[in-house]
Amino acid sequence: MSRRWFLISLLLLIGFPVPQLHAVGMGGMGGVAGMVDKLSIQTKSVGPVVFSHSLHAFQCNVCHPSIFKKKNNSNHVTMEMMEQGRSCGACHNGRQAFSVTGDCVTCHAGDIAIKTKSVGVATFSHEVHIDMFGCEDCHPDLFKPRNNSNHATMDAMEGGESCGACHDGDSAFGVTGDCATCHAGDILYKDEDNGNVVFPHTAHIDMFGCDECHPDLFKPKQGANKASMEDMENGESCGACHDGDTAFGVAEDCESCHEM
Ligand code: HEC
Ligand code: HEC
Ligand code: HEC
Ligand code: HEC
Ligand code: HEC
Ligand code: HEC
Ligand code: HEC
Ligand code: HEC
Ligand code: HEC
Repeated sequence: MSRRWFLISLLLLIGFPVPQLHAVGMGGMGGVAGMVDKLSIQTKSVGPVVFSHSLHAFQCNVCHPSIFKKKNNSNHVTMEMMEQGRSCGACHNGRQAFSVTGDCVTCHAGDIAIKTKSVGVATFSHEVHIDMFGCEDCHPDLFKPRNNSNHATMDAMEGGESCGACHDGDSAFGVTGDCATCHAGDILYKDEDNGNVVFPHTAHIDMFGCDECHPDLFKPKQGANKASMEDMENGESCGACHDGDTAFGVAEDCESCHEM
């Protein structure tokens, strides 16, 4: 039994305050006229919240029409009203289900992948930041709450825009260092036969600019640049530098790269 069904069954056993709460099968929810599984509830300041019918497999009349009119975006309330038991807060009160006073990212937005043209994806964790800030510290002025709708260059960040509004080396670690903390850490090439290779990204970023490797020598995506040792000996991939001259050679000490 999945955790969700276990919890729902448990709720049934301990008694749910809403009358006639019966879990219905997913099959029972499909094909019901007008019912869409995932609905987007729009907020003014913090973007959309996705509500999933199939994750809430109760009988319709548990929610309709007493808690929600059956029409998307026709039931707007504030979080404060939810805390008083309205809307999602009728159940998400820390007893029937996790509370609206915590777990913000479960309903709102989790980790965000911000795409760049040249150096792949930079990750932003809502969870980490929400522990320290309110949504309004960032939305909607500093960032529109929509993925990939706020592009800035690192230069602009150094000037205090985007992440740089806080990551100035004072309020939080600066954008002029610690590149790998926001971009990408060490990369594992799994190879049980020949020994795993860990590519120390951070150590290389300390020596080279991103553009010396990305996007020409390596597409900035894990696993997107297969090469053989022979290719490397011919100057491709790691071999572009690991030629025994710029850096230790690929034909030399295998154990400098492979875990053995
Ligand atoms: C746990 C509560 C809950 C249950 C149970 C539930 N719904 Fe909903 N339903 C919602 C919410 C929330 C919305 C979105 C309301 C909004 O956007 O203001 C919604 C919206 C709808 C809409 C409007 C869709 C649209 O595009 O406008 C329909 C139709 C609907 N539900 C049908 C059903 C049917 C049929 C069932 C039973 C099989 C059901 N719902 C069970 C919470 C529930
Ligand atoms: C159970 C799901 C759920 C949880 C948990 C939740 N929210 Fe919400 N939140 C919503 C929904 C749904 C809306 C949209 C309400 C509407 O428009 O009817 C919303 C709206 C908002 C809004 C805009 C409306 C307002 O009150 O200003 C803010 C800000 C917000 N949430 C912040 C938070 C924060 C901060 C947390 C964590 C402490 C949180 N939310 C936890 C579901 C949730
Ligand atoms: C009739 C009661 C009820 C209402 C109303 C309700 N929920 Fe839930 N919800 C539950 C229960 C029960 C669970 C599963 C138990 C848990 O995870 O704590 C759940 C789980 C969830 C989950 C987690 C699903 C997962 O991935 O595990 C999300 C997200 C969620 N609800 C969002 C919402 C939002 C947004 C609203 C309002 C628009 C809402 N719920 C209204 C009862 C309700
Ligand atoms: C420290 C700043 C910061 C805080 C605090 C913050 N966010 Fe965000 N949020 C961001 C950034 C950055 C993005 C990504 C924007 C982009 O990709 O252009 C984002 C994106 C979003 C998105 C869009 C997700 C998507 O997939 O399109 C939503 C929704 C969102 N935030 C909601 C919230 C809510 C709700 C809160 C408070 C509970 C919150 N944010 C707190 C910085 C923040
Ligand atoms: C606080 C997090 C953070 C740190 C630290 C950081 N970056 Fe970024 N960087 C980002 C984000 C987010 C983007 C994507 C911005 C966008 O598209 O809005 C980005 C984009 C970029 C880009 C593409 C845009 C451009 O300016 O050409 C490059 C190159 C880059 N970063 C290099 C670096 C280097 C080098 C360092 C270290 C000196 C670094 N970054 C440190 C978050 C960070
Ligand atoms: C409102 C201020 C604020 C904004 C805006 C902000 N950050 Fe942060 N961030 C912080 C603070 C404060 C910390 C924790 C202090 C520290 O580690 O120096 C932090 C920590 C982090 C961490 C370390 C997380 C961990 O696991 O410890 C990363 C990565 C990060 N931020 C990335 C970003 C990126 C990427 C952006 C822009 C898209 C951004 N931040 C925007 C304030 C902010
Ligand atoms: C010495 C070469 C080198 C330099 C310099 C370098 N990278 Fe990489 N990068 C790599 C390699 C190798 C990979 C792994 C590619 C693969 O798995 O095929 C990688 C992967 C990545 C990935 C993908 C991570 C993932 O999990 O998918 C990102 C994002 C990235 N680099 C960003 C950057 C940024 C930003 C900089 C500069 C701050 C930078 N790189 C500097 C060699 C480099
Ligand atoms: C500079 C680091 C480096 C050194 C030194 C190195 N390798 Fe590799 N090797 C790698 C990486 C990275 C891969 C995975 C490449 C990929 O998947 O794109 C790999 C893959 C391989 C493979 C599988 C691909 C193929 O060519 O069949 C073998 C076998 C191998 N290495 C053997 C060796 C031996 C033997 C040595 C010593 C003579 C050696 N390697 C030295 C980095 C290195
Ligand atoms: C742009 C040039 C360049 C590329 C491409 C490059 N390296 Fe390096 N690497 C260096 C230099 C320079 C050093 C430090 C000098 C030395 O140790 O010989 C180094 C050092 C290392 C070290 C030792 C780091 C330490 O902390 O001691 C490892 C392991 C390594 N590289 C693996 C790789 C692997 C695996 C690849 C390919 C996925 C690769 N490198 C691609 C230039 C490069």
